[in-house]
Amino acid sequence: MGIDVEAVRGDFPQLGRKVHGEALVYFDNAATTLKPRAVIDAVRGYYENDAANVHRGAHFLSELGTEAYEKARGTVQNFINGAFDHEVVLTGGVTESVNLVASSWGRRFLKKGDVVLVSGMEHHSNIVPWQEACERAGAQVEEVPLARTGDDCWDIDHEAYGRLLESHEGRVRMVAVSLVGNVLGSVNDVRRMADAAKERPDPPAVFVDAAQAAGHVPLDAGGLGCDFLAFSGHKMFGPMGTGALYARQHLLEEMPPWQTGGGMIDRVDLKEGTTFLDRPHRFEAGTPDVAGVLGLAAAVGYLEGLGVENVRERERRLRGRLLSGLLSVKGVRVFGPRGGDGAAIVPFLVDGVHPHDLAVLLDRQGVAVRSGHHCAQPLMRTMGVESTVRASLAFYNTEDEIDRFLAAVEKARGIAR
Ligand code: ALA
Repeated sequence: MGIDVEAVRGDFPQLGRKVHGEALVYFDNAATTLKPRAVIDAVRGYYENDAANVHRGAHFLSELGTEAYEKARGTVQNFINGAFDHEVVLTGGVTESVNLVASSWGRRFLKKGDVVLVSGMEHHSNIVPWQEACERAGAQVEEVPLARTGDDCWDIDHEAYGRLLESHEGRVRMVAVSLVGNVLGSVNDVRRMADAAKERPDPPAVFVDAAQAAGHVPLDAGGLGCDFLAFSGHKMFGPMGTGALYARQHLLEEMPPWQTGGGMIDRVDLKEGTTFLDRPHRFEAGTPDVAGVLGLAAAVGYLEGLGVENVRERERRLRGRLLSGLLSVKGVRVFGPRGGDGAAIVPFLVDGVHPHDLAVLLDRQGVAVRSGHHCAQPLMRTMGVESTVRASLAFYNTEDEIDRFLAAVEKARGIAR
């Protein structure tokens, strides 16, 4: 069963708004998605009726909140097909999750001379925390290079990756890669990378950034063969400042706390020091964003109602129309995979028009896109450009919106030239 687009558009109040007097065409879904009423209601419902702190009170509302919060952890576990709910740490999103692992796992497992491999298409948030952790440990970050696979299209160079694993035998401690690239929309063969890593005698851990995959591509933490997987709520129709880190139990058990405070201690003694709770709570210091987590669980529920496979299929069709439309506009240069496998994220340039100018000219016509380096400067260098315009779609976008977007690009091109 497919998606009833008119019905689902009614679930997203923001789709009804106007920008500069024009009906909004929201094509900036890779930056953040819009939120359905189910998510907004979950957040508002908590603050209107149920607010109380969790894990700390014996009163009715605190227990209610604790139960709902822990139930949400299980909802996330099922969403990513994780083995246990205690392997799910609720975080503020992918940035926080990478920092958590780089800091805590790095402190425990990274030592002088070690190597962290990072793919050449990563978002800065899946690069910089590893650089910092390596600097602390005396280790180094190395790039898994990309191979050009066609006109303005690149993919992970799996051969070069294999050579890196081999030449640094026993020193590669971590491989960090995104499941879906935030610029090119490539869907990376993470399973192949994890398998290659695990064949080594002293295998590295594998960290998967699923920020652009969650909510668009079915997630299967076990099936990917990874050790860590992180996603952000706000990119999958949930609230900002929410997300989760899935981590294998044996690693979490060895990882020290990365932030300390209330909610994660076992016993505190001013003389004897402090002992900590077991995973996952050891990694969740302080009062969590309970409303956000309930909103995240509502987003998962919403997506499961649609079926992530149906979402994927619809976004695939929309992407095909967007790609062929853009490729037929004179002076447009499109980057990324041309086949059916990419996610609905399409970066492009218009000859003679600066990406920022183009984004502003599109905005004046009610079309929201992102322009710039998309927090992926190393990839931009490989692409040989400083910035692009990026159109990114979600299942609630329509064929008519794509046609309006294409007309807006043509018009902007005419104005700017
Ligand atoms: N990481 C988000 C993006 O790619 C913000 O736009």
